[in-house]
Amino acid sequence: MRRTPLAELLQNELERQDFHPRLPGYKRVYEAIRSAIVNRRLPAGSKLPSSRDLAHELDASRNMIVAAYDQLQAEGYVCSQTGSGTYVADALPDGFSEDSTLVKRAAPKSKGSALVLSKRGARLTQEKGVENYEVQPFALRGKMDLLNFPIKTWQRVQNQVWRREDIQLYDYDSDGGYFPLKKAVADYLRVSRGVSLSPEQVLITAGTQQSIDLISRMLADQNDVAWVENPCYWGAWSSMYANDLSIRPINVDHDGMNPSAADLNSLPPKFIYVTPSHQYPTGAVMSLARRKQLIEYAQRVGAWLLEDDYDSEFRYSGRPIASLQGLATEAGIDRVLYMGTFSKVIYPGIKLSYLVLPEPLIGAFKTALYDLYRPGQLHLQAALAEFIEQGHFTTHIRRLRQAYAQRRTLLLAVLEKNLAGKIQQVVVDAGLLFLIRLPPHIDDLALAAECQAQGLSVRALSRYYIGPTEARGLVVGFAYVDTNDLVDCGQRLGLLIKSVLS
Ligand SMILES: Cc1ncc(COP(=O)(O)O)c(C=O)c1O
Repeated sequence: MRRTPLAELLQNELERQDFHPRLPGYKRVYEAIRSAIVNRRLPAGSKLPSSRDLAHELDASRNMIVAAYDQLQAEGYVCSQTGSGTYVADALPDGFSEDSTLVKRAAPKSKGSALVLSKRGARLTQEKGVENYEVQPFALRGKMDLLNFPIKTWQRVQNQVWRREDIQLYDYDSDGGYFPLKKAVADYLRVSRGVSLSPEQVLITAGTQQSIDLISRMLADQNDVAWVENPCYWGAWSSMYANDLSIRPINVDHDGMNPSAADLNSLPPKFIYVTPSHQYPTGAVMSLARRKQLIEYAQRVGAWLLEDDYDSEFRYSGRPIASLQGLATEAGIDRVLYMGTFSKVIYPGIKLSYLVLPEPLIGAFKTALYDLYRPGQLHLQAALAEFIEQGHFTTHIRRLRQAYAQRRTLLLAVLEKNLAGKIQQVVVDAGLLFLIRLPPHIDDLALAAECQAQGLSVRALSRYYIGPTEARGLVVGFAYVDTNDLVDCGQRLGLLIKSVLS
């Protein structure tokens, strides 16, 4: 095949680079283009071919090229102009831009916001982060599940609160949350999660990320180390990274976070961030032994354990293991900051969550919460408190649990039927997602992109790794698919997986 000069150049770059054998295809294309840009073989303003044309010329999949272009754009190497195409950016990002001789100003006006981002901003928006994916079957975040949400009751409770004409509810919240909500949360956590607390220890925040942001600002200094699970929920490490913590990824096995000897001998962390009830995204439940080891270690080195209990309400059989917070407090150790959210049990846009603090931190955290974020939404907090106190919350969770358990069982059965013996599903009786492990040679990014194109929002496991990808797989959310669509969607997913396995 005769190639255009640009495709020829990229082909040469691809051949010249000494890639790690496990580097996914899209990363190779990304590296080849990036290197051509940095070395001025592709000057500023050059128009890149369409993803379809380049895929054809390089004999690669289109998804691979799209993923490479996306990453280049997120990092500011290229800008995309709607209807016109993709161009090499005027200035190089991150470390190159200050050398003006390196790139010359060129014709197309760049609109890429990445060009003005700080290094931190560029890294935060690189590859991970907000996706403009529509919410589709198997997404990990759902459209409001109106069928399973008692909307009439919710409206009635809201109305009751607004009718109260309580002038205080119109003010900022200067007490770390509306007290009756803090009390309701404390009562709930004590009974259902074995958390040991008083209502005063609860801080109402606007989402787990705000909790992590606040903790980072209050307890860490620049370059302090944060251990995070690898693979990890990027919303968590992003918040810590944005606060200039140094992120150390720690491997996860089937018992949860598993620090190696090298980890244990390195500079002790200030934070250890874990999702012990149901590791995100592998689903591993942290064993009791591992919990005890981590608590002892945190106590020994003076680290704070950040326990993110984001979906602990969804346990489909057996009894959950007690929270780290409960275990630590029982042992007289006050080093756990426990976080939970109403995103999964009420609806994501409610943006209400809670942070349980060791007593000595309460005063400082309340002050900082007020000074940094000026919280409010007291009507909403009051309505939620009523919703819990009147018993609707418990009933709602019970219903959700039944609905999600049913969806999970159905989807597993469909996949089992379509893929019997071909894949390894990591199935835990908890949460809102499960992981399908794939052999290491499968490009899970390309497969996830293909699923996405077919209307199924699964995510590639490799996207969750910090650093080299350790394993391949698909993360499948089963909770937000309409039960009537599950069989059809499950079959289509099964076929797509089968096609790459064969
Ligand atoms: C691990 C983890 N923690 C927390 C959250 C919820 O965060 P928020 O309370 O900010 O909605 C999510 C949402 O997907 C999550 O996956």
